[in-house]
Amino acid sequence: MWWEDAVVYQIYPRSFQDSDGDGVGDLRGISRRLDYLAWLGVDAFWLSPIYPSPLADFGYDVSDYTDVDPQQGSLDDVDALFAGAHERGLRVLLDLIPSHTSIEHPWFREHPDWYIWSPIDGPPNNWVAAFGGSTWSRDERSGRWYLHSFYPEQADLDWRNPEVVRAMQSVVRFWLDRGADGFRLDAIDRMVKDVELRDEPPAAVPFPLPLHPDAAVLDRRHSVGQPEVVDALRAIREAAGDALLVGEVFEPASGCARYLEVVDLVFSFELLFSPWEADQLRAAIEPAAELGRFAWVMSNHDFDRLATRVGPENLRAAAVLLLTLPGAAFVYQGDELGQPNGPGADPPYDRAGRDGLRHPLAWDASSSGGFTTGTPWLAVLEPAERNVESQRSDPASLLALYRRLLELRRRLGAGFQFVDSEPGVLAYERGDHVVAVNTTAKQREAPKGELLLTTHEGPELPPHAAQIVRK
Ligand code: GLC
Repeated sequence: MWWEDAVVYQIYPRSFQDSDGDGVGDLRGISRRLDYLAWLGVDAFWLSPIYPSPLADFGYDVSDYTDVDPQQGSLDDVDALFAGAHERGLRVLLDLIPSHTSIEHPWFREHPDWYIWSPIDGPPNNWVAAFGGSTWSRDERSGRWYLHSFYPEQADLDWRNPEVVRAMQSVVRFWLDRGADGFRLDAIDRMVKDVELRDEPPAAVPFPLPLHPDAAVLDRRHSVGQPEVVDALRAIREAAGDALLVGEVFEPASGCARYLEVVDLVFSFELLFSPWEADQLRAAIEPAAELGRFAWVMSNHDFDRLATRVGPENLRAAAVLLLTLPGAAFVYQGDELGQPNGPGADPPYDRAGRDGLRHPLAWDASSSGGFTTGTPWLAVLEPAERNVESQRSDPASLLALYRRLLELRRRLGAGFQFVDSEPGVLAYERGDHVVAVNTTAKQREAPKGELLLTTHEGPELPPHAAQIVRK
């Protein structure tokens, strides 16, 4: 399948390229920049949500699944974008949000039975929402309490209701008919809940991925990851045919087998959260690599940017790691330039504090970075320091390294095996190549073979460097 070792570039549409001067990125802007993605050498791109939305969760609160937010453009713009992408051999993934809609989606009023309601006048259990607080809120109009796994503005759909299943299947068909090549499926571990709405017991052991402190004290066995999620996903698969389905499952690899019965790939959150330390990286990678069908990812629009997470000194080695692991990988827009977390907005747009991860991409050194002719909705960070134009013409830039890796990764060969190495060095074989990543600030022994790529010049394996050799 085309996606098995694909590199997918995540576009955050509001922050990629504005075409009409309103300061917000849009679909025409993306169309204008397709040559950049083709030049970079990615196989596909994923668009974070483009649907109409009241923006309580910046598009993840959908009020119409089969239209486009007017700020983003129109369905005609989608058609043009898909056509432009396909002409360049790029595939397009949309973000599908199956577990909840905006409370402003007409379904919430027209079909209240498509949602999950408390049987009593108040929260029926102790479940905690992803951003903290109870998962239950009172609907002022009906006086009843509805379930929301995320913000109160995002009411959870009831996937046990066959009408919900059919409605979402037609959404899937709608976009595939228009030319989408697949979907990133949002928060699928939240799609189905315990039918009896039982209380969560206290957590006996800490959950291996970061949770909001309110949620971390609970063992979320009833509100997350129910076995029936497989049926819900099968319904999506039935509509999707062999289109790519990439699941966002907020679980370690050990909790993902159930989802992989149906979806093609799931994200490796253990890698995303791993400290930049060889043994911990290996522990994060090994179980996912053994299971296969993990999409490697090191940052996205929800968690720290890569430059901030690993530090600027390790950015080059992190690029080598991300793009030489076996299988598919996702690159979040701006990481290829080394964009760090920014200050966000004051007052913040996102109540969960994620604005700083979503600053617009800088295309050139001008004050708004070529992102917009107007006032950007979030500041463009230091465009003179870091932009596509200058890095494109500099063979020593991080962007140039990404491009080289995107080309080189196709020649690495099959197979994947960790090899013994000095402390602090992560080393593995891919085909007849060895990749060595030095996570320390000390020089280490270079891998043996013909040097194809090094991130740093110097003897042996320099501090913070990664190398690829042919044996
Ligand atoms: C996913 C998205 C995140 C959103 C949440 C609720 O985790 O990546 O941005 O807030 O789902 O839809």
